[in-house]
Amino acid sequence: MPLTYISGTGSAVPSKVLTNEDLEKIVDTSDEWIRSRSGIERRHIAGDGETTATLGAEAARRALEDAGVSPEEVEFIIVATVTPEMFFPSTACVIQDMIGAKNAGAMDISAACSGFLYGLSVADRFVGAGQFETVLVVASETLSKITDWTDRNTCVLFGDGAGAAVVRQSPDGERGIIKAILRSDGSKGGLLYMPAGGSRHPTSHETVEKRLHFIKMNGREVFKVAVEAMGEASASVVEGAGYRPEDVDLLIPHQANIRIIQATAKRLGIPMERVYVNIQEYGNTSAASIPIAIDEAKRKGALRPGDLVVAVAFGGGLTWASVLFRF
Ligand code: UT7
Repeated sequence: MPLTYISGTGSAVPSKVLTNEDLEKIVDTSDEWIRSRSGIERRHIAGDGETTATLGAEAARRALEDAGVSPEEVEFIIVATVTPEMFFPSTACVIQDMIGAKNAGAMDISAACSGFLYGLSVADRFVGAGQFETVLVVASETLSKITDWTDRNTCVLFGDGAGAAVVRQSPDGERGIIKAILRSDGSKGGLLYMPAGGSRHPTSHETVEKRLHFIKMNGREVFKVAVEAMGEASASVVEGAGYRPEDVDLLIPHQANIRIIQATAKRLGIPMERVYVNIQEYGNTSAASIPIAIDEAKRKGALRPGDLVVAVAFGGGLTWASVLFRF
């Protein structure tokens, strides 16, 4: 199969910022605790009129512009999110309309923080198989809408934002997606989830009173699995493709916790100078975290065409994924 590559990137985050100091006024926490336990200093929060689709559409427009592709040329749109506009229609359909991609099919992917890498991998197969020439992968989240702002265990961690990538056939057979690993363990789904609102616990007065429409997380247990899974997945994708850690120019990990990121880099054998970190600015934006990091790293010159990159994510499901690509 021919290689497919990321031909354009874009991102969009809300302008409204919530600092650790702001959170000190809402729950019993401290800037020192949040920084030392997670690495987070600020996060961006959707304002009036900003939704998963508006942020995703803005990231998508920027990615299309970056790739020099018109909306009409897009043949398929994949949107990764756990905070969709609504159950249906899909957020992908809403974004398809917003950006005027009138020739595109559209669907959502639900794989939590691993969603962008799952979506990228699906896009890679569609393009590689010749089904489509141009696929748009968007990851967008407004986690602030499902965050329990009275729960200090979770509310200090999450933020809102969107990232997008245009995927097309590699122009030179050098740049492109080399290998992907996609995994899951549904038996541990209860470690990180939103209990109500679906068919198991439809919305009722009781589900609202019990605060079941918010993120619930066993942070300590999730932490342990994340360290193991992200380390293993990133090492396997490099080794499985016949590369060594020293060949990797940049590790772009899901931005959930600086200590998980450091452990992943150590397991992979890559110094922190070659790891992209922006958790301090955005917190954990779930599926959006990796495409925001890719786009930002590119704009800052930390990611250059031809660089060998490992992206690795972990999240609700549980799901985890790693993708090795030459940017
Ligand atoms: O997106 C992918 C999925 N999510 C993740 O990857 C998150 C994984 N987990 C984590 O990042 C970490 O487990 C946390 C940042 C959530 C927590 O860090 P920790 O070092 O695992 O802390 P802990 O849960 O062991 O809690 C330590 C203490 C507890 O007090 P006691 O029981 O020791 O007295 C908590 O009650 O810290 C307390 N605590 C807080 N204190 C101040 C919990 N949250 C806060 C808070 N401020 N916001």
